[in-house]
Amino acid sequence: MTYYDDLTKDEKRVTIFKEAIKQNAHGLTYDLGTGSGILAGIASKYADKVYAYEINPLTIKHYTKANLQQYNNITIIETDASTHKFTEKPDVVICEMLDTALIDEEQVPVTNNIQKYTKKDTIHIPHSTYDTIMIGQTNITNITYQENNKPNFKEYSEETKYNETIFREKNNTHIQKEITLTSKKTGTINTIKLTTYTRVTEQLITGPTPMLNPPLLIPTKEKKVKKGEKIKIQLKYIMGGGLNTIQTDIQ
Ligand SMILES: C[S@@+](CC[C@H](N)C(=O)[O-])C[C@H]1O[C@@H](n2cnc3c(N)ncnc32)[C@H](O)[C@@H]1O
Repeated sequence: MTYYDDLTKDEKRVTIFKEAIKQNAHGLTYDLGTGSGILAGIASKYADKVYAYEINPLTIKHYTKANLQQYNNITIIETDASTHKFTEKPDVVICEMLDTALIDEEQVPVTNNIQKYTKKDTIHIPHSTYDTIMIGQTNITNITYQENNKPNFKEYSEETKYNETIFREKNNTHIQKEITLTSKKTGTINTIKLTTYTRVTEQLITGPTPMLNPPLLIPTKEKKVKKGEKIKIQLKYIMGGGLNTIQTDIQ
């Protein structure tokens, strides 16, 4: 199975986007980072015209073209959507280049660029994401995405919201936060867990699905903590900059 097969077979992901598109797609709809074209194909039923943008020529050759050739209102455009000069103002922008905390994909550079070309009432799918943080204990030594709760993460704090990104706005890609959490038990902490929730529309919210924003485990320096102790976390990363931009400190 390829990456695009995995994405299109993630029923929970596809169903929630399908619902958002069904409720909102109309007029001129853009699909930024179209990949297999699955969301553009869904939008074609509700929109007059769909422009499907994709940066990777091999993806277009092997997937997008084959999947979208049956739709006569879809145009495929090979481009970098984070710098592209769009010539028409869309009624709807679909951009599913999500990943946990928006660090390792270009969702924010792309949605920042599209702000220059949208109208006041352009609808964005997804609407926004918000991120939460927990502190705990694992046996990982590298940054790792959690799948089916593996690797095991022993929770030491409540899950706390620390960031929100609204895609109809221009967002600062450089995240720098100081977050204070309270330890629920005595022991040793060595990992931060980030989880991202997606508001596909303002009302339709999803947590991680198999191919959408799996929780991200980030090893930190080790610290012995007591139940009730306050833990100060410094968290820095660049949205769209990649996982190697992540920096942490705990005190
Ligand atoms: C997570 S996949 C999602 C594909 C599709 N939107 C979906 O929901 O199945 C992200 C896609 O965005 C494309 N992409 C990444 N950066 C891009 C950019 N700057 N401009 C256009 N496409 C980009 C990738 O090549 C990939 O096909």
